[in-house]
Parts: sequence; structure tokens; C-alpha cells
Amino acid sequence: MPRHFISLADHTEGELRSLIELARMIKANPPAFSTACAGRTMALIFQKPSLRTRMSFQAGIYQLGGQGVILGPKDIQLHRGESIADTAKVLSRYVDGIMARVYAHQDVLDLAESSDVPVINGLTDFNHPCQVLADLQTVQERFGYLRELKLAYVGDGNNMAHSLLHGCALMGMHVAIGHPAGYAPDPAVVARAQAFASSSGGSVLVTEDPAEAVDGADAVYTDVWASMGQEEERDQRIENFRGFQVDDALMKRARPGGIFLHCLPAHRGEEVAASVIDGPRSVVFDQAENRLHAQKAIMVKLMGSRR
Ligand code: CP
Ligand code: NVA
Repeated sequence: MPRHFISLADHTEGELRSLIELARMIKANPPAFSTACAGRTMALIFQKPSLRTRMSFQAGIYQLGGQGVILGPKDIQLHRGESIADTAKVLSRYVDGIMARVYAHQDVLDLAESSDVPVINGLTDFNHPCQVLADLQTVQERFGYLRELKLAYVGDGNNMAHSLLHGCALMGMHVAIGHPAGYAPDPAVVARAQAFASSSGGSVLVTEDPAEAVDGADAVYTDVWASMGQEEERDQRIENFRGFQVDDALMKRARPGGIFLHCLPAHRGEEVAASVIDGPRSVVFDQAENRLHAQKAIMVKLMGSRR
């Protein structure tokens, strides 16, 4: 297990399986883990807003016997020019782990480079590995397994698309991305996912046709059309993403038992119809809950007394 949790691509299929299994055990019996991180302190850095990541890390470390200190954009000296390296070195003298939500992915890499304690990526503009670990746990709960399931992601080739490509391909799933023209995922991520898929038995499809992506899918995933930091592009994106809403007609192309996922926050009437996200196939609140269990598993593995 690497010392940090920065990208699913840094991990093996076996490591991800064991994290998902630990998350399942923690979810089944939280009190059994109530001292797993006793006395540990985490710095929780947020340069962007958050509901799920903030609450699930803060509640999670507390439930493991430790404590988290939230550091918002104005709380620390980064915005006044203190370097990331100095921030990491100073924090390492006080805490046992750092979780960071930042804009530039390089910032989380730089934090990890200079930190003596584990760094966990709580979302960058490039990826969102904690979310996808929880998503894989959620899909496994529903189907009992992951291998050979098809997950279709419809929308922006963004941070969510990147972590889904890495995570699903590593786990031997078939992952399909349906994106509008001009919003493809990073070709390097697609190539890496294809390499994972060729050894795991999975596959990768990238298309500009959302129907082709969703055909026969066991799980259909979408995310907002304008991510944090892209607010001023929102109107243009609403135009450009026309035809990419996950609605009842698109869900009909999935398998009859196919489920709907969304990392949240969601915009009903944009990337997803209210009838889908609020309908019987939606597992979005299980995903949100599983952030807690999956991240507790990460914290136990990286900082716990029984690593
Ligand atoms: N899904 C997710 O990471 O939500 P927040 O932005 O609210 O943390
Ligand atoms: N793509 C979204 C994910 C939010 C969890 C964003 O970056 O805003």
C-alpha cells in the first residue's frame, strides 16, 4: 500500500479490494474500530467548498478515536504566499495525516512530496479517488461483485470521469464514457485505464454518443456539467451538454436491474432528470454514506494502529 492516497492508479487491484473489504467491515460494525486511530490528528485542508468530504472525514476520524481540524481557504497562510512545501513540513510536525481538497492536482502532489505523514486527496481538478472508492463499494453492495459489470459515465470528462476510468478498469469492469464533443477525458488517463483493463479483463470505451455508452450498462453515472472553479462557463456548458442528460429514456438503455449513481451535489433538470435521481434505481445516498466508511478504511490503513 503506498504511503499516500492520491490516485487510484497508484494502487493494485488487490489493494483496492482490501480497502473495499475493510470499508465493508467498518460499515458492518463501527464500534469495533472506535480506537483504530486513537490519539491521531488529521489536518483537513479545503480550498473549495464541500459537504460530503468535509463531514465524512471529520465524523470518520472522530469515530475512529481521533480528531480532525478543518483548515478552510482563509484559515492557513497558503493564500498569503506560504509555500505548499513549508505548509506540509510544518503540518507534519503536528498531525498524523493530511487530507487536502485543492484546485491544481500538482498542489496535492507537492504536499505529498514534502509531507512526512500520509496525504489523502479529497478532490483536485484532475481526480477524486475517495469518491470512486466509495462508489465501487456501493456497486459491490448492490451486485455482490464488480468484475465484468459495465459502468457508463455520461457527461464531462472531468475529475470524476478520470477516477472512474482508473478504478473501474483496475477492478476488471467495463467502463464507457459518453461525453459531448470538446469534453473528452484526458487521453493519458484513457490510455492508463486501457492498460489496466487489458490485464484485469475489463474494457474501456470513449464515445460522443451517450446511448452507445449506456447500452447494457449495470450502472449509469453522471456529474455536474460545470465543476467547482468553472462557474463562469456554466451557461455555455448547458448549451454544449444538450442531449447528455441522464433521463428515463437513457436509463431504459441500461440493463433492467441497472442502477443510477451521482457523486453529488446534483443539478436536477441539467445532468440528471429528477425522476431518475429520485427514482427507485438511484443509489446516490448510499454513495454519500459510503464516503464515511471508505475513507475510514483509508485512514485506518494509512494512519491506524493496526495497519
Ligand atoms: N461528492 C463530493 O465530494 O461532495 P462534496 O463536494 O460536498 O464534498
Ligand atoms: N466534478 C465535480 C465533483 C464534485 C464532487 C467538481 O469538481 O465540482
